[in-house]
Amino acid sequence: MNETRHRVLDALADGPVSGPALADELDISRSAVWKHVEALREEGFEIGSSDAGYTLDSVPEFGASAVEYGLDAPFSVEYHDSIPSTNARARDCAADGASDTVVLADEQTGGRGRLDRDWHSPSGGVWLSVLFRPDVPMAHAPVFTLAAAVAVTRAAREAGVEASIKWPNDVLVRHGDAERKLVGILTEMEGEADRVSWVVVGIGVNANVDPADLPAEAEPTSLLAERGDSVDRRLFTQRLLEEFDTLRQDPANVVEAWRESATTLGKQVRVETPGGTIEGEAVDIQFPGALVIETDSGTEIVSAGDCEHLRPITE
Ligand code: BTN
Repeated sequence: MNETRHRVLDALADGPVSGPALADELDISRSAVWKHVEALREEGFEIGSSDAGYTLDSVPEFGASAVEYGLDAPFSVEYHDSIPSTNARARDCAADGASDTVVLADEQTGGRGRLDRDWHSPSGGVWLSVLFRPDVPMAHAPVFTLAAAVAVTRAAREAGVEASIKWPNDVLVRHGDAERKLVGILTEMEGEADRVSWVVVGIGVNANVDPADLPAEAEPTSLLAERGDSVDRRLFTQRLLEEFDTLRQDPANVVEAWRESATTLGKQVRVETPGGTIEGEAVDIQFPGALVIETDSGTEIVSAGDCEHLRPITE
């Protein structure tokens, strides 16, 4: 959304404000005011007009301007009702030189998951990719995946869902002994060893989605299923982006924030790594995201792999 349209919205929110007063305040013509008001109405903002002037009566449920309006983070949002993959689109934006851009969709038709899996993304989810250009070496980039997991966990908890992180970046909800997956994260990046050029953090949140519409083998849950009613996706997305923005600026503190939101530490785990399977107790996490595991034959430090929480052996 351009700067003037932002200011029109802010003025309307404090309204009623007359067209001429708005034109004076923003130093634009009356016809420009009218065009901004019409464009906002087309995007779903309900703008009333009476003798007293214009008033902002309601904000659309979801979309680019809806998320940008009131967002306390410097992202511009590009919204699609349906798109193959927000990560693929964000990569294209990166190739065009963009930064601090969020690609957001209601539905993905070709969503991608980790390990080249499909990611089912029906209408009602929060499917988004954040493109940014941090000034860090490539080796530090995994910390942004952890930051995304923390951000989305905090947003879910604020929405009343007791989510927690399974290393490195699955966000789960416990159901007795079982764990159901609420969120998946897929990070992609490009750059030289000493400096990242861009990072795309793709976050898939099963928001207002029925878990029965998702593949059962993923053992899915959703915000809708956990809460028993729909979540306000606009507010949820804003909280997620605001938390992520704060965390990405302070990579040194992300690991501690991750520890507070994670469920893996202290658990028996089995991790499938490129170098083989490692089993033991997960005892710590190290910057930028490696898991420390105590095994029968000593300490192992694992930086990537598929992690399974094992049930404690009861005698
Ligand atoms: C996983 O396998 O757990 C990661 C899933 C990541 C899915 C998200 S949805 C938004 C973004 N666009 C994609 O195509 N994938 C990611």
